[in-house]
Amino acid sequence: MSAILELRGVHKSFRGADGNLIEVIRVKQFALGTGEQTALVGQSGSGKSTLLNLIAGILLPDEGEILVNSTNPTQLSEAARDRFRAANIGYVFQSFNLLQGFTALENVLLGQMFGGGNGGTDRAVQLLNNVGLGHRLHHKPRALSVGEQQRVAIARALVNAPTLVLADEPTGSLDSKNGTAVLELLRRVCTEGKHTLLLVTHDPHVMERFEKVVRLEDLQ
Ligand SMILES: Nc1ncnc2c1ncn2[C@@H]1O[C@H](COP(=O)(O)OP(=O)(O)OP(=O)(O)O)[C@@H](O)[C@H]1O
Ligand SMILES: [Mg+2]
Repeated sequence: MSAILELRGVHKSFRGADGNLIEVIRVKQFALGTGEQTALVGQSGSGKSTLLNLIAGILLPDEGEILVNSTNPTQLSEAARDRFRAANIGYVFQSFNLLQGFTALENVLLGQMFGGGNGGTDRAVQLLNNVGLGHRLHHKPRALSVGEQQRVAIARALVNAPTLVLADEPTGSLDSKNGTAVLELLRRVCTEGKHTLLLVTHDPHVMERFEKVVRLEDLQ
């Protein structure tokens, strides 16, 4: 299985309130193969979101190497890194990060535009249909339920057929019925598209649905 994601000797520290550096991430080695679906777990504050942000190139490591699709985004200019992320990585944020002034369809189309993706409106509409929102294309986030907003965020993350999908507690703000539905949907779309999935969760019910569960503290 070829690796879509590889981390080697990655360190990241933040400066605490007292001015001292606190090491949040220390990962010796971590790799994900094509199409793999892995849950990443760890205590609150242990650095899970920080690790996803490092993988996405939103944060840069102090040391070490992160390869996504054999490219090291750290070595790209900031603009090139943004383009690389948009084209190769689908990021489902815990707080959705939908643009409030735009409809469901426009949010997905904007994601497509940033990724230089093609497929046009047809693909965006097809994805929204696929997540069960074909009847909500022209609703703005405020007029959507929380579960529906999360499904728009999933459609947006997948619009450029990213090789790697990062999801940060995508079911965290949903009740258990909607959470299970959103999780199954995300997994099904990743399976169909052969996208590799790395999903952060606290929830034991979510963990037990994954064959591979990685504890952040075990990566040190
Ligand atoms: N920009 C920053 N500056 C300073 N400290 C930070 C910064 N970002 C994160 N931290 C600290 O790094 C640690 C890890 O944060 P992170 O958000 O990655 O945790 P997490 O595992 O995602 O937690 P949760 O499960 O609660 O979401 C925390 O102690 C946090 O305070
Ligand atoms: Mg977090």
